[in-house]
Amino acid sequence: MEDQGVTPPDGVAGTQQVRLGRRSFLKLGSLGGTAAVLAACSAPPAPPTVVPPTTAPAPTAPQVPTPVAAAEPVTAPLVSDVLPYPRLKIATLSDLQKGVFSTAYPDQFSPVQVLKLGAKTVGGVGPDEDIVAYSGLCTHMGCPVTYNPATRVFMCPCHYSHFDAATDAMLISGPATQHLPRVVLEVEGQDIYAVGVQGLIYGRPHNLSLTEL
Ligand code: FES
Repeated sequence: MEDQGVTPPDGVAGTQQVRLGRRSFLKLGSLGGTAAVLAACSAPPAPPTVVPPTTAPAPTAPQVPTPVAAAEPVTAPLVSDVLPYPRLKIATLSDLQKGVFSTAYPDQFSPVQVLKLGAKTVGGVGPDEDIVAYSGLCTHMGCPVTYNPATRVFMCPCHYSHFDAATDAMLISGPATQHLPRVVLEVEGQDIYAVGVQGLIYGRPHNLSLTEL
């Protein structure tokens, strides 16, 4: 193809007019691109980017359960415990001439039968260690019990539980499951004092507290 030539724009190359053929102009452009590629290829390679090593996570210490302080043992009263009700005078020796005396302890809501059995017995006090006292409330459902001196047996008229006064008011028969609570006695001269109750008096929430009445 014929090189028709390219006239550079006005003002280029100063006062001297330079006329390049079209083929020469394209060749110059091609050489410029090649030179740029060669320059890029001959440039020193960029230094590798230093990537800091990944820091491995520190091993987690195994979870150790926090020790829990041992709970204080619950000190609920047992049937065999003596609940320390106040020391109160509840009878005299002369009140027992008939073998049985009805009173109340630790308050008017808890009937008590004081007995003189005529023979030494469990928890007996007095000169012959035969004076005892028991709650007059049945341990089944709280009915007042009656006492028969001839048989020394308490009987509940509600469901007929029977308790043996000569053997710590143990249950003989009936639906009750506990003996009658025994009132702990002390004798001072002619006076008989109650100082506590061994067992749980039926229907008294304060049985569960050794400090309240
Ligand atoms: S209340 Fe006494 S036997 Fe049921």
